[in-house]
Amino acid sequence: MKAPKVTKVTTHVLHEMKLRGEKISMLTAYDFSMAKIVDSTGIDVILVGDSASNVMAGHTTTLPITLNEMIYHASSVTRGVERALVVVDLPFGSYQGDSLKALESAIRIMKESSADAVKLEGGSEIIESIVRILSAGIPVMGHLGLTPQSINKFGTYKVRATDSEEAEKLVSDAKLLADTGCFALVLEKIPAKLAEKVAKAVKIPVIGIGAGSKVDGQVLVLHDMLGITQEFSPRFLRRYHNLNDEIKIAVQDYIRDVKNVDFPNDKEQY
Ligand code: KIV
Repeated sequence: MKAPKVTKVTTHVLHEMKLRGEKISMLTAYDFSMAKIVDSTGIDVILVGDSASNVMAGHTTTLPITLNEMIYHASSVTRGVERALVVVDLPFGSYQGDSLKALESAIRIMKESSADAVKLEGGSEIIESIVRILSAGIPVMGHLGLTPQSINKFGTYKVRATDSEEAEKLVSDAKLLADTGCFALVLEKIPAKLAEKVAKAVKIPVIGIGAGSKVDGQVLVLHDMLGITQEFSPRFLRRYHNLNDEIKIAVQDYIRDVKNVDFPNDKEQY
């Protein structure tokens, strides 16, 4: 099947990419300027992740970020995006244990940010919330494996589903999410063989982060892959640039020029 030229990525486009075996590229973004740059490259999906809690707000976990803060980030991103599908994380506390609250949270995201879809962490324990959100016509992306909103339950950021019990639950949750109507699924930090099994078992696209190459696409946190964040170095992370150093050099050059009255020069004033 030949890839058609796409002016706007939709859930349908992602489904066709899986059928064709074409890999899906996904990155996070949290603000207008970065989203505009990332979208201009032809990326397929932009995730307004609750990792904004870490990389934007400096929290140690994703738990503190609020629905209002996610909507602020999401609406900044959608103003910069023309082509990519924009997916927004429902933050911790906005959907667990109360499907009506989940629906209200998802509707607020869609209405106030003009996003294309939402993402929720978890399997059978949040299925009522997913069903209710889907019933309003809102596309849902699932997220299984290392689900950072449950870090206090896990007690560690180690690889998930290495034992057979957790692996079996993950496969059955993945099938449940697909059968319920999720349009795609993120698998985070699980053994590559297990991720491959899931990608083969479900018809929806499976996007991996630390889940090996035999899935339907990959996602990374933008600030990690650009080398802006320095303290986070899991094995699965490939740094494509060292922007941290480049930014420091540019700022140091600016400081030098200001101190030496080299900036502004004659042409840089009125
Ligand atoms: O919040 C996030 O950035 C995510 C990705 C790591 C998948 O959920």
